[in-house]
Amino acid sequence: MAGEDVKIDPWGRPEIKDYARLYEVFGIRPISEALAKMRELGVEPSAFMRRGIIFGHRDLDRALEAWKAGEPVAVVTGFMPSGRFHFGHMLTGLQLVFYQRLGFKVFVCLADAEAYAVRHIPRKDAVRIGVEEYVANLLALGLDPSTAEFYFQTSRGLPYHELIQLFSSKVTYNEMEAIYGELTPGKIVSALTQVADILHPMLPEYGGHRYVVVPVGADQDPHIRLARDVASRMASEVEYFTPPAATYHKLIRGLDGGKMSSSRPEFTIFLTDPVGDAIRKLRASVTGGRNTAEEQRRLGGEPDKCPVFDQYAYYLVPDDSELESIERRCKSGALLCGECKAFGSERLKSFLETHQRSLEAYKDKAWSIVEAPKY
Ligand code: TRP
Ligand code: SF4
Repeated sequence: MAGEDVKIDPWGRPEIKDYARLYEVFGIRPISEALAKMRELGVEPSAFMRRGIIFGHRDLDRALEAWKAGEPVAVVTGFMPSGRFHFGHMLTGLQLVFYQRLGFKVFVCLADAEAYAVRHIPRKDAVRIGVEEYVANLLALGLDPSTAEFYFQTSRGLPYHELIQLFSSKVTYNEMEAIYGELTPGKIVSALTQVADILHPMLPEYGGHRYVVVPVGADQDPHIRLARDVASRMASEVEYFTPPAATYHKLIRGLDGGKMSSSRPEFTIFLTDPVGDAIRKLRASVTGGRNTAEEQRRLGGEPDKCPVFDQYAYYLVPDDSELESIERRCKSGALLCGECKAFGSERLKSFLETHQRSLEAYKDKAWSIVEAPKY
């Protein structure tokens, strides 16, 4: 079968070159189909969906139908608290806000067990980073804690941990190896734990049966496939389980065109970066521009290869027609990279100033809305 050889390693942070291949290989559906459905149901898709940054989904249409019919719905996602909160994380955060405003209950997992197992992050660091970076920034992005639950994997409680034990007998080693490639005990437990993250909100102890949507980067699809398999295999035993829906986004590029990651701070914009630092990084970014101004005027720039344009499309230019105009002017050679970066720097400055002002108010509050693990 096509794609037998294609594996996504969610811990290796693969750079996925061709997102469209994921449609044929793994059966992810193009988001365009779900958009039509959304509009039919009276929901305006988010800019990420309109712009194809969220490019694919599984069963999003079914989840939205459930929502429209007034059934209980939730959005679930998780973050590994292994480094500072950056522009890549914000994409997931804003999706949580989007669903919350539609009336979805929100569950945010702070994946401290996973960070310990696969990234060897000391426990105390994971807790501090989880609260002060992730919870605080998510609140500042507009997530309302009154209908959002934040938790650390290691202290989520008994029914959740029982699920992990039960799941371990629902898959074979060979199946997991076919999904993930090379495994370690830490990876196996992390994967089953993530399945519990996704399915436990359906247990009565955590609110009972509901339709769950999981917004993730495309690299997390192996976990989604595993969660959907486990849910269907256990459906006869645990009546609350329904295979979860998911959406998939493209990972934002770092400022050298490689991956954006906390371990590559020079190419990554953090939400707590001093404005001057962030602008300096943006100004040093590679672009889709040509070698000389003359050449660029003649040939035009290549916004689809440009990390600066990524920052616009993801965040800095929310207005679709403004984004189109930048793209057009770049491609025609009317806009040169220096002018473009000066514009981007202004946008970045006002974004960070506004965000950091509201973040101050949430730093302390964050500690009071999540239970920190005891050790
Ligand atoms: N594995 C995810 C990451 O590396 C974090 C995560 C843990 C997660 N539990 C989850 C994501 C549940 C989505 C749903 O970023
Ligand atoms: Fe990128 Fe702007 Fe240069 Fe176009 S003009 S390549 S969008 S920096």
